[in-house]
Amino acid sequence: RNMMTIIEHAEADDFLETEIPEASGAIGKIANNLVLTLTELKLAHAKKFEALSQFAGGVAHEIRNPLNSIGMTAQYLKNIFTQKKVSQRDINEVIELLDIMNYETDQLKKISEQFLTLNRPRQLKLEVVSLNNLLDFVLAEFKVITERTGIKTLRNYDPELPKTRLDDDQIRQLFFNLIQNAIQAIQPKNGSIYITTSIEKNAGGNWIIANIRDTGVGIPDQIQERIFDAYFTTKEQEGGIGLGLAIAYQIIMAHGGRIEVKSQVGMGTEFKAFFKY
Ligand SMILES: Nc1ncnc2c1ncn2[C@@H]1O[C@H](COP(=O)(O)OP(=O)(O)O)[C@@H](O)[C@H]1O
Ligand SMILES: [Mg+2]
Repeated sequence: RNMMTIIEHAEADDFLETEIPEASGAIGKIANNLVLTLTELKLAHAKKFEALSQFAGGVAHEIRNPLNSIGMTAQYLKNIFTQKKVSQRDINEVIELLDIMNYETDQLKKISEQFLTLNRPRQLKLEVVSLNNLLDFVLAEFKVITERTGIKTLRNYDPELPKTRLDDDQIRQLFFNLIQNAIQAIQPKNGSIYITTSIEKNAGGNWIIANIRDTGVGIPDQIQERIFDAYFTTKEQEGGIGLGLAIAYQIIMAHGGRIEVKSQVGMGTEFKAFFKY
C-alpha cells in the first residue's frame, strides 16, 4: 500500500513535497529508490532550465551594450546629416562614429560566434602556424583596452619555438578567451599579464606550451574544478555567460592537447595550454 501511495504521489507530480511513507522490504526499497531517482531527475531538469534562462539572460545582456551604442550612434549620424550645412568637421566626426559602429558590429559578431560554436563538433582546419604569431595577433586585439586601462602585457616567447599544426581561428579564439578573462580579473586595473611560450619534452611526448598568467583576483580552490563547465560564471553582474573556458577546453581537446590551471586568491591565475608537436 505504501508503494501505491508513493506512485500516486509521483504521478500527481507532488512527490517532492510529500513525505515518503516508510516502505519496507525489497519492493519498498525499490520504490524508495525510484522516488529518489525521480526527485533527482526533476532537480536536474530544474537546474538545466535555470541554466538555460540564465544563458538567455546572458545573451541579452551581452548584446545590449553594442546594440545601444550602434543605435545611439545611428541617431547621432542622422542629426548630423539633417543639418542645413554639413562642415568638414562634421564629416571627420562621422568617420570616427562609423569606426565605432564597425567595432561594435565586430563585437556582436564575436558574441554570436561564441554561442554558435559551443557544443558543435569541432572540425579542425589544420595549418602549420607559429604560436608566437597567433598570440601576438590576439594581443593586438586587446591593445586598445590594455592601453586604456593601464594593464601591462609582458611577453616572453621562446624564439626557437617550433611551428606546429593547429587550427588558426580556433587557437586565436582560445587565447582570446584566456586573455579576456585575465584582463577582467585584474582590478583595480594596474596589474600585469605575462605571456610565455616554451617547449617541454617528457615521457608523454614533445609539447609546445603557452602560458597566460595574470596578477588578478585569483580563483578560489572550491570553484576551480567548475570553471570549465559551460555556463559557470562568477560574473553575472558584469554580464558574464560562462562560455569562455568551456569553449577553450573544447578547442584544446579537439587539438589533442591539455590545459592546466593554477591559481591563488589575491595572487593571480595561470593557465597553461599544451600542444603536441
Ligand atoms: N584569469 C582568471 N582569473 C580569475 N578568475 C577566472 C579567470 N579565468 C576564469 N576565471 C573564473 O572562471 C569563470 C568562468 O570563466 P569563463 O568560462 O570565461 O566565463 P565568464 O568569463 O563569462 O564568466 C569566471 O567567471 C571566473 O570566475
Ligand atoms: Mg570569460
